[in-house]
Amino acid sequence: NKVYAGIDLGGTKILAVILNEQGEILKKSETSTNAHEGSEPVIRRMIELIKSCLEPSQQLASIGVATAGTLNAEEGIVAYASNLGWNQVPLGKLLGQEFGVPVNLENDANAAAYGEWAVGAGRGTKNCVYVTVSTGIGAGLISAGKLIRGRDSSAGELGHITIDLNGPRCLCGNVGCLELYASGTAIGRRAQQLVAEFPEKAALLTEKAGGNPITSRHVAEAAALGDELSVGVLRDAGQALGNGLVSLIHMMNPEVIVLGGGASSIGAPLLEPMNEAIADRGIGSMRSNVKIVSPLLGKEAGAIGAALLVAD
Ligand code: BGC
Ligand code: NA
Ligand code: ZN
Repeated sequence: NKVYAGIDLGGTKILAVILNEQGEILKKSETSTNAHEGSEPVIRRMIELIKSCLEPSQQLASIGVATAGTLNAEEGIVAYASNLGWNQVPLGKLLGQEFGVPVNLENDANAAAYGEWAVGAGRGTKNCVYVTVSTGIGAGLISAGKLIRGRDSSAGELGHITIDLNGPRCLCGNVGCLELYASGTAIGRRAQQLVAEFPEKAALLTEKAGGNPITSRHVAEAAALGDELSVGVLRDAGQALGNGLVSLIHMMNPEVIVLGGGASSIGAPLLEPMNEAIADRGIGSMRSNVKIVSPLLGKEAGAIGAALLVAD
């Protein structure tokens, strides 16, 4: 029995799934990583994780790996992954040597897009875009029933489109990037700044954070209780996200946008201003015919998509 491995390599964990030939999940498992340990121990742990998921009776046919950042997919190289601090890591070659099977690298959002489109919330559509709002912001683009990968599986860097010409410089080299305003990281950072600036409005957020750095989850929790400062942070982020999605709608003319990452769980305080920006600025029927939906595959979307992409 042939099986297909899919791996999602993130800044804090490695998640693995094993699929059968019908695309059903036989096994899933995860292990932690951190950005400071360098690529070697992370790859060693990834190999162990894959091995621990396989039964003696199973024959591994391929490995698909989803990772944030830019790739040289043909050479199997992770070119630049800021969340891991990786530069030019030959991950594909190392996994290929270890397991003796084809290995395909894919951008994390592209892989999740493929997964959600093939077996999740975008199933049955031809033009489906997946957007993740997490540490960064990424997108995967399905057009006319095909994943648009670009030369290096790096197409769909939605987080690095400029939404403010006069904005700060991003680590990517561009200026005023969407993810500087609307990612989970940006939401936490903005809240932290405002807490320092307006301590008299910061009581609830400070309490939620309990002495730790403020994250987007704290902001979402406080906003759900009506906290003014948090509602304001999410309104700004939601408007910025809406701006980015308007550009995406105009570029891709999708039927469906699957909105993943933390965004869908933050809910109305982020999504309402986002939808207002789209309603206000999107072009006619391109805007009104697009459905924005929640993902169905949960945190396994990237790993499932990566496995299916090699298997197909
Ligand atoms: C990276 C993308 C990635 C996205 C979500 C961005 O910062 O540039 O490659 O898809 O974060 O992880
Ligand atoms: Na992408
Ligand atoms: Zn950028």
